[in-house]
Formats: sequence, structure tokens, C-alpha cells
Amino acid sequence: MEGREAIGEIMRQSQVTYWCHEIIKSQAPKGGFYIDATMGKGYDTLMLCRLADKSGRVLAFDIQEKALLLTDRLLTEHNVRSRAELILDGHQHMNQYAGTESADVICFNFGYLPGGDHKIATSPASSIEAIRQGLDILKQGGMMSLCVYSGGDTGFEEKDAVLGVLKKLPPQEYTVIVNEYYNRQNCPPVPVFIFKK
Ligand SMILES: C[S@@+](CC[C@H](N)C(=O)[O-])C[C@H]1O[C@@H](n2cnc3c(N)ncnc32)[C@H](O)[C@@H]1O
Repeated sequence: MEGREAIGEIMRQSQVTYWCHEIIKSQAPKGGFYIDATMGKGYDTLMLCRLADKSGRVLAFDIQEKALLLTDRLLTEHNVRSRAELILDGHQHMNQYAGTESADVICFNFGYLPGGDHKIATSPASSIEAIRQGLDILKQGGMMSLCVYSGGDTGFEEKDAVLGVLKKLPPQEYTVIVNEYYNRQNCPPVPVFIFKK
């Protein structure tokens, strides 16, 4: 790898979503059932659709029509649109769409739609309700990936609330791994992985 390609790879490796994707791809079975709890521009949904391959399926949630339009376009461009159901609803209603112990992966990327209205963002109460439902919906052996943000427009309330709840999950039932960008200033994102035993 040389020049711009190498620089591109290094830049990708500094992104929180890169690491979340890499861990999901290394841990989850292919061809499974996956949920993207925060669709946004559809990049996580696209990764899950690729993992789903032809036999799996993906549910993706967002409260903004714009997110559904952007994701629909992205999945169509990459010829994987038929693998996903795009749902205009809050992730705190996830249990109306997926059964207990049915999902292999649930992916959260909190915050606001990049390039969109920063006031339309995930919020502590609904995020925690969605995580609780998601833990029920996960299969044994399944995993949840969460990108948690703080600072700026986001504040600290959601990060503190989410990490507070995760700290109390029983270790006999869940392994919770909270990662840290150790040498980065200014409230770096926190990648979190939960494995259901
Ligand atoms: C950081 S973006 C997600 C990025 C996205 N996964 C991607 O790959 O582009 C966060 C998204 O969460 C959405 N959101 C906010 N509250 C939500 C809720 N209660 N349920 C589902 N989505 C929500 C926002 O509309 C926004 O599009």
C-alpha cells in the first residue's frame, strides 16, 4: 500500500465506526439477523447488509425521513436494498419489530445525523430503553456495538447515562467492553461492545 491509499487507510483506522465494523465483522456470524438502531446516512446499515449476504436480513431504525431516503439510496447503489427493512420509528419501539433472542447483532451510533439538524438527536431516556430492549432481543452469543459521543452539542448526559446503565449489567450474563481513544483530546467517541453470554 502506498501514498494516498496508505493515508486513507490510516485515516479510516482513526474512525470509531471503522473499529466497530471490524469487531462486528470478526465476531458475528454471516447471514444472520442484524439491527441498526440508528440508521443515519446508512453506512452501518450497508455494512450489516453486506454481512447479511443473500440469506440474512437487516432492520434499520431512524426517526427522520431524510435518514431513510439517504439509506435507501446508499443500499440501492450497492445492490443490497432487498436485504434491509427501513423503519421510520424510534429504536425505543424495537421490540414491536423483533422477537426476544432473535438478533445476532444490534448496532447503535448515537447522536445526530451528520450534516443534519443537531437538535434532532438521540436522547438518554429513549437510548436506555432501546438498549434494554436490545439486550432482550439479542440471541445468546449475540453482540451489541455502541458508538457513544459527548461534548459539543451532544453534552455529557447521554454518555453518562448509558455508561452508568452498562456498568450495572450482571457479569454472569454480559461481557461489557468499553474502549478509549487514550491520547485524543476533546471528548473522543467511546466504542463499546456488549456480548451476551
Ligand atoms: C450519528 S447518526 C447515525 C449514523 C449512521 N449509523 C450512519 O451510518 O450514517 C444518529 C442517528 O440517530 C437518529 N435518531 C435519533 N433518535 C433516534 C431514535 N429514538 N430512534 C432511532 N434513531 C434515532 C438520528 O436521526 C440520526 O440519524
